[in-house]
Amino acid sequence: MTPRRVSVVGGGIIGLSVAWECLRRGHDVTVYDPDPGSGASHVAAGMLAPVGESYFGEHELTELLLESARRWPAYAAELAAASGRDLGHRTEGTLQVGLTADDLAALRRLWTHQRELGAPVVSLDSEQLREREPLLHPRARGVLVESDHQVDPRRVVAALRALVPVRPVAVASLAGLDDGADIVVLAAGCASAELAGLPVRPVQGTILHLRGPAVLRHVIRGYADGRAVYLVPRADGEVLVGATVEERADGHATAGGVRDLLRAATDLVPELGEHALVEVSTGHRPGTADNGPIVGELDGAAPPRLLVATGHYRHGVLAAPYTAHAVAELVDGRALPLLWAPFTPQRLSAGGAR
Ligand code: GLY
Repeated sequence: MTPRRVSVVGGGIIGLSVAWECLRRGHDVTVYDPDPGSGASHVAAGMLAPVGESYFGEHELTELLLESARRWPAYAAELAAASGRDLGHRTEGTLQVGLTADDLAALRRLWTHQRELGAPVVSLDSEQLREREPLLHPRARGVLVESDHQVDPRRVVAALRALVPVRPVAVASLAGLDDGADIVVLAAGCASAELAGLPVRPVQGTILHLRGPAVLRHVIRGYADGRAVYLVPRADGEVLVGATVEERADGHATAGGVRDLLRAATDLVPELGEHALVEVSTGHRPGTADNGPIVGELDGAAPPRLLVATGHYRHGVLAAPYTAHAVAELVDGRALPLLWAPFTPQRLSAGGAR
């Protein structure tokens, strides 16, 4: 295999993961980003939750995310060892819970769907639920998905940055990136629309950080009186509460969005009302028309070859290891792994998203 010169545009978790994988395979890699890890990666909660994130009608995407989740334990171990950093990788599993009869009716439909996909969704009686999370509201009911884990994306970015050379330069146009690379990888999230005309749109999300005594062990996702929420506890006691999903891009957290997140969080775990609200962050998920990522080679680009790895919407952290593998296969001159076939850029040019 001939070593290539690879330029990666975008230093979020996708660009950095691609860069590290190419470096590990012996290529010469440079990442371009004026502020690596400051985009969607900075606000992501880091749920590695292909089961919790499996939605009706997204079978191919779920298969892809399940495969990436299978890769995460080894990937986390290798990245922690190579960088000497703790990634906050936690494997206690995820509880999916609801508070009201309507919440549970909606969740039961989802659990049926998840079980049909073969997911390990284990029913818990209320005593078992309380044993796992004593501070959940006594009316909460739910299931355990032991295979849905978490990692801290800010730690992952810091670890990757320690291993990957980054030039703190903004790339205004791909044509202007005349650095002698054989291959350019566009991994610029929402900016991929401007840089290559890809149909990626910003889907705004606000996430809260609460700080206090460590009161939770598991990731908790679900509904509290119709309000969707997830709670992601870090080892140091911080709890992330996310996230709004808004078709806007002004970057402002709204009072209503923050109220709904706080209300849902404290309805499910009343003790969180005593925590300090230490951070309110808003960012932009790179969304696509079919919620699937865009990974593959762009046809017809004049040399250098142009590969894209973008549009990961809600799944950038989870999909990072498998995206890195897929792109590195292309860099090595091999074919895209089969599970990626539905997610190439060609599906979008052939009459729009499927
Ligand atoms: N992955 C969860 C979110 O985007 O809110």
